Amino acid sequence: MTTIHMVDELDDERRQLLHQGDLALLPPTAGSRALVRFAAEMLGACFAPFDPVHAQRHLDIAEWVRRFAAVKPVFMRHEVTAQLVREIVEEVGCDTEDTFWDIPRLRGVTSDGYLTAGVGYAHHPHRDTWYSAPPCQLNWWMPLTTCTADNALAFHPEMFDVSIENTSGTFDYYLWNQQGRRDAAKHITSDTRPQPKAVVDIDLTNDLRVVGEVGSLLVFSAAHLHSTVPNTSGVTRFSLDFRTVSQQDLEHGRGPTNGDSMSTGTSLRDFHRCRDGESLPAELIHRNDRPRAGGTPSRAHDPRWLVFEPEPAT
Ligand SMILES: [Fe+2]
Repeated sequence: MTTIHMVDELDDERRQLLHQGDLALLPPTAGSRALVRFAAEMLGACFAPFDPVHAQRHLDIAEWVRRFAAVKPVFMRHEVTAQLVREIVEEVGCDTEDTFWDIPRLRGVTSDGYLTAGVGYAHHPHRDTWYSAPPCQLNWWMPLTTCTADNALAFHPEMFDVSIENTSGTFDYYLWNQQGRRDAAKHITSDTRPQPKAVVDIDLTNDLRVVGEVGSLLVFSAAHLHSTVPNTSGVTRFSLDFRTVSQQDLEHGRGPTNGDSMSTGTSLRDFHRCRDGESLPAELIHRNDRPRAGGTPSRAHDPRWLVFEPEPAT
């Protein structure tokens, strides 16, 4: 059974329910509304003179990618974005001393197969834990433009605590930082980046789609199997997502049991404390930093590749 909590606060108790597979849908806050407006300004300038959701009808694909790849890292690194995300976390009642967050990602999922790779990649069914996320990570997803069932996220809740044979054993977070993201804008017609995937057939027919209003926040466990619905809405869907971890959860080893992730490394160095931007204690990072199968370190164990950086504008 999966429960969706339609609430305006995410306290410690509810967070534990999300670790058990529940979902939370929080209504827009003052901060999230301001973030929607800020994103609309940046996207409007990026795709001018076209409406961002319709720009795909007017621009050839290389031009669309060029424009979106340029605005993405600017928005993601912008101090206004950071300030508003911190504000949102505080507004919904998270303890800013205990909560650490990472860089928000800006996504654009075009309609009708216009762009299916690179900066417009529509994610196949996956768990974020296959991508070296800690089991107690929560994902926050916010539509910046109208969200409908034909351009939303899909969950496969019956697979939440079922082990799925997958290729996460070949995924190395530091190699991903080194190679994968830096090349995202180069992938237009196909995406050859090695992404962890299920290697068995999964019945995805009974998916769950949560449709919230613009600026709402859908919060869910990183261990949920989820995917991007192939967009058939006729318009590009823009969204923002970021992740949080609770230091207490990490210290106590809380979160879903990591049953089927064998990825290398950890994304925990990307997280910073909401209150003051501090990093997590080194011991907690080390505890979650998984070596490659056989105990050998990552092939990209260089300080430059330990932390995610948005792909540079091209
Ligand atoms: Fe994901």
